[in-house]
Amino acid sequence: MNTKFSDLSSNSIETTNGKTDFFYEDVIHGLQANPKRLDSKYFYDAAGDKLFREIMNCPEYYLTNAELEIFSEKTAELVAAINSHGAGFDLIELGAGDAMKSTYLLNELLKQQIDFRYVPIDISANVIKNLNHNLPQVLPKLKITGLNGEYFEMLAQATSLSNKRKVVLFLGSNIGNMPIHEATEFCKNLRNHLSEGDYVLVGMDLKKNPKTILSAYNDRGGITKRFNLNLLERINNELNADFLISQFDHYATYDPESGACKSYLISLEDQTVQIGEKQVHFAKNEHIFMEISQKFSFGQIEELARNSGFKLMNQLFDSKKWFTDVIWSAG
Ligand code: AVJ
Repeated sequence: MNTKFSDLSSNSIETTNGKTDFFYEDVIHGLQANPKRLDSKYFYDAAGDKLFREIMNCPEYYLTNAELEIFSEKTAELVAAINSHGAGFDLIELGAGDAMKSTYLLNELLKQQIDFRYVPIDISANVIKNLNHNLPQVLPKLKITGLNGEYFEMLAQATSLSNKRKVVLFLGSNIGNMPIHEATEFCKNLRNHLSEGDYVLVGMDLKKNPKTILSAYNDRGGITKRFNLNLLERINNELNADFLISQFDHYATYDPESGACKSYLISLEDQTVQIGEKQVHFAKNEHIFMEISQKFSFGQIEELARNSGFKLMNQLFDSKKWFTDVIWSAG
């Protein structure tokens, strides 16, 4: 397929949702804990969105291209896998973003004249506004109902839109941002919002050469480092803090046994930081846990499906078998 949808990604994405109070509480709570941590969901302010787009263009960050290859080159197989019942369905996407990958799927569904409605869900109002406006211009026949809000609140709304079968997309290895026990709770919750026979299509990054994985989170250009440090800048800007960014360094690890890729910020000095009314002390070489990006073995994927009430229906890979999109049935 030759159609290019990259023009959709040029829109700026604004994820600030005004919940400054929780941001402050979460930051203080995390930095008063031992060991210290920050929540990676806060990476994505306007600057963080931009840095993440730069990460996706880093030569080391293979994930985006691997899943894009599946969506652009195995589109008909994807359609066959999710349309196995023949009747119409609602195609719900959690964290739709610029919908670049899903647009390949939408285009093929329309081409095959399959009856469906696209229901993108995103925490960012700006993302939903852009999708509602831009997608029908690229795909004139598309039926779209964008929903702005928290995943499960919006999923409850989305599932009450019609009696049609549901197919839920959760792409980009976003599931990897949760440790496996949390991912299991997340999938159980997803299952509870669905009915028997509904499908989910989940993008997961697979275990591979540990050096390949580590490089993706420790790129030579230092974009991932800036991406992590940006959260300190965001805290400075939004929570009236005085982090000295140059006094922290980025450190990434990958454990081939568990498949956990983790990133940390390391305090390079003994230092005290003011955050609003509070002070937080950092010892020299103390770490802040920033993010997990879980990589999966086939066994771990099977176990996740089984423990959350799903059955594996189908599984697609990129040519290197570095990434997989699994299709599960709620059963
Ligand atoms: C957006 C969660 C899929 O974990 O690979 C990229 C975020 N962090 N580089 C990932 C990320 C550092 C990314 N996800």
